[in-house]
Amino acid sequence: MRYHSLGDLPPKRHTQFRENGVLLTEEVMGYEGFSGNESILYHLVSPCRVKEVGDFAPIVREEWVPGAHVHRLAHTAGVPGGGDPVSGRRLLMWNDDVEVWLVKPASETSAFYRNGEGDEVVFVHEGSGTLATIFGRLPFRAHDYVVIPRGTTYRFELDPGPQAWLVLTTPGEIETPSRYRNRYGQLVEGAPFSHRDVHPPVELETRREPGEFDLVVRARGGHQRFVLDYHPFDVVGWDGYVYPYTLNVHDFEPITGRIHLPPPIHQTFQGPNFVICSFCPRELDYDPLAIPIPYHHSNLQSEEAIYYVSGDFGSRKGIEVGSITLHPSGLPHGPQPGLVERSLGARRTEELAVMWDTFRPLRLAAAWRDLDDPSYALSWYTPAEAPVTTAG
Ligand SMILES: [Fe+2]
Repeated sequence: MRYHSLGDLPPKRHTQFRENGVLLTEEVMGYEGFSGNESILYHLVSPCRVKEVGDFAPIVREEWVPGAHVHRLAHTAGVPGGGDPVSGRRLLMWNDDVEVWLVKPASETSAFYRNGEGDEVVFVHEGSGTLATIFGRLPFRAHDYVVIPRGTTYRFELDPGPQAWLVLTTPGEIETPSRYRNRYGQLVEGAPFSHRDVHPPVELETRREPGEFDLVVRARGGHQRFVLDYHPFDVVGWDGYVYPYTLNVHDFEPITGRIHLPPPIHQTFQGPNFVICSFCPRELDYDPLAIPIPYHHSNLQSEEAIYYVSGDFGSRKGIEVGSITLHPSGLPHGPQPGLVERSLGARRTEELAVMWDTFRPLRLAAAWRDLDDPSYALSWYTPAEAPVTTAG
């Protein structure tokens, strides 16, 4: 994101750096070999050191192949909480570029976790706490995006109360959209958020603590368990461009226009072959003849999924807080009958929703089958004997 550092660092990289006479272990964590963004961390003990090698458990994805290709709606509000922030994740949909999980953690886990094969972005619908990481402590609150680079060893600490999160994982990188950045990487003036809205870890947590610590590493499509003999948060200092951060959706400054603007104005992140967008409370299109909700559209090369967070989503019927719609490729979609008329003259929306558009088809997981509302596919149907007429 931008350069940041916490803790103690030697003045020159790759030189001797000691604590109480003991040489520290320098680790470079970087993307794209040694050419992408990187951070350099200084450990009390080698990050390679493991005491025991535990089991490897493949991640089993149970697919639901529906009998029909239609627009889909699922309701997640009634899904009970349970599990921890990692093992409690329920897969909803996936393709080779992104996986989408729902998790309502009810307990913390004693094990530390590291996703070794993908970046993660956690949208916190409900709840708050602290993401304790090797880079330091990162507080999070409702409606934060918590972006966790691959390779980050972490453990979620939960505040009391319900938690409901959406987790997107990708084998690629979660980045700010390229068009929001200048050639030096700084977010440009026209971007809907700035570096001040991006919050890195606030406090380094250096644990000088021998003991037994479980670590779960996601790699090669599964979870490998290890036992460490030293606390994994043994970093005395780090610096660089790779670290977890939060961006609260209410710091996204909506871009609005005289007539309707398309979803790219809501884009918040990009990944390989997908985007993540935030629909935020905002003033609506202000031309007297504007239609302030979306026109029908055929996203010829993408699938579009929206998670509804709060407010009244004016362009959809049957939506509740926690609902997800999936408008797959091959089928046009738009507001249901009557909604355009109802929207005319509206000046503001309080809707809050998170959208992911993928450029390759999504597969549904078995968890979706249990939440699926089959009536949605017919929600545009108006019987011929009862046509919808305009209101004036
Ligand atoms: Fe759409």
